Amino acid sequence: MEKAIIKIKRFDGKKEWYDQFQVDIQDRTTIAEVLMQIHDRVDPTLSFRVQCRASICGTCGVKINGEKHVLACKTKVKENLVNGEILIEPLSNMPVIKDLVTDHKEFIYKIKDVKGWFEPKKEFQPVYPDDLKQFDKETDCILCGICYSICPVFEADRDFGGPINFVKVFRFWKDKNDALGDERIVLAENNRITSCVHCKYCTFSCPKQIPVEQDILQIEFYGKQKGIIKKDEDTGGFSTPFGF
Ligand code: FES
Repeated sequence: MEKAIIKIKRFDGKKEWYDQFQVDIQDRTTIAEVLMQIHDRVDPTLSFRVQCRASICGTCGVKINGEKHVLACKTKVKENLVNGEILIEPLSNMPVIKDLVTDHKEFIYKIKDVKGWFEPKKEFQPVYPDDLKQFDKETDCILCGICYSICPVFEADRDFGGPINFVKVFRFWKDKNDALGDERIVLAENNRITSCVHCKYCTFSCPKQIPVEQDILQIEFYGKQKGIIKKDEDTGGFSTPFGF
């Protein structure tokens, strides 16, 4: 056992402040576990979301030390201590409801805009392992919103669909039993896929190791080759709100 200082950004609907707690941790103690410990033993008013505790439900996303966006149930406290402390804040790019609880409504509604669900063809074709490999990683998306939280594009373009959106586009576009085909690329363009700046923060932060930026690149490349997505000659094929 060793001691760690846990700093938590609080919000009660009106004002923001930081609270600090000292807790006992072991090597394997996760952020979710210290949050539950604080809630159960020190401050029952602390709000956060944790359900499956197994990186499956996607509800426990938080920001730590001002830079990393992680699943609380998967992330060890000890590995992220800076001088014996860790700072825990709510995810970015979405409204905070209370303390570490954020409102996921915006990105969930945006998934509706790209028809982020399976539209079956009339005739079902058998799916072989090689077909599955095309979109296998993308089926792992747990809608945690971490890629949405870390994406810098929203500072310049609030209407950008967000990385999570284009993972859904990619997953169904690559499925040979999906009926929408290239209509999915049109939907991606309508949801401003070309605003992506290809910083790869989404790829590096995804707790499921989905190659998010690569998927966006593939959709854009295909769309531009097919004339579905407009090429921007001045920016060498990419059009971004940042001008590069
Ligand atoms: S509690 Fe379900 S993903 Fe973390």
